[in-house]
Amino acid sequence: MVQHRPHTTVVLAMSADGKIADVKRSPARFGSKTDKVHLQEQIALADAVLFGASTLRAYGTTLTVSHPQLLLQRTQAGKPPQPVHIVITHSANLNPEIRFFQQPVKRWLFTTTAGALFWKERVEFEQILTFETPTTKFDIQAALQHLTTLGIKRLTVLGGGELVASMLELDLIDEFWLTICPLIIGGSTAPTPVEGSGFSFELAPHLQLIKVQTVEQEVFLHYRLQRPTD
Ligand SMILES: NC(=O)c1ccc[n+]([C@@H]2O[C@H](COP(=O)([O-])OP(=O)(O)OC[C@H]3O[C@@H](n4cnc5c(N)ncnc54)[C@H](OP(=O)(O)O)[C@@H]3O)[C@@H](O)[C@H]2O)c1
Repeated sequence: MVQHRPHTTVVLAMSADGKIADVKRSPARFGSKTDKVHLQEQIALADAVLFGASTLRAYGTTLTVSHPQLLLQRTQAGKPPQPVHIVITHSANLNPEIRFFQQPVKRWLFTTTAGALFWKERVEFEQILTFETPTTKFDIQAALQHLTTLGIKRLTVLGGGELVASMLELDLIDEFWLTICPLIIGGSTAPTPVEGSGFSFELAPHLQLIKVQTVEQEVFLHYRLQRPTD
């Protein structure tokens, strides 16, 4: 089947009890060095990375490719050193003082017409892409389709759970990389890889396990989404 959107891969680290952050939604820095390299590898494979506004608010920065081998691979493939970094937000309520806006990456904004108002006369975002559903919510499906016309074939989705839920609901995810880290976070309001309103068992997306790798205390799980045609 021809896909009129980029190939999408979600990459997340979670605790053994399935949390991607603590109840304060602090930055998730519990992955090992190996997990950080793995994350960088997934970023290096992408033409663009996408993350939710709350993830950016939590970290204040984005992860760039810094490993010399990965930078070389990108150059040899004719790609720029860094993928485009895309923030998705209805409100576009972001602090222009955060370090993200000084990082040496191309920044694009996915937002609504209202969200674009503050940013459109400013220099922080190279592109502001506004797509709206009839109810003036951000139309992520249309936005992803548009990305293919801008040369974005592979998109790495860096979280968080709300963004992943909104994409899964529209069948916009192709692969998951989940790293299980050896800690328990707990807390009924601590975020998980997929937030939103959830799926009934009948409608739950099913996964096919592609690979499992254990490195020291962490387990790296690679899944692809199973589709009715599989
Ligand atoms: N462990 C990990 O690997 C990992 C990775 C990433 C993040 N995290 C953690 O996850 C937490 C953040 O996750 P989260 O689930 O709370 O939030 P999130 O998905 O990062 O961001 C949610 C916000 O993003 C915007 N958004 C998401 N989907 C959208 C859509 N389809 N259309 C338009 N806007 C959309 C909205 O922004 P507006 O409200 O501005 O409209 C929404 O409130 C943080 O604590 C972070 O530390 C962990």
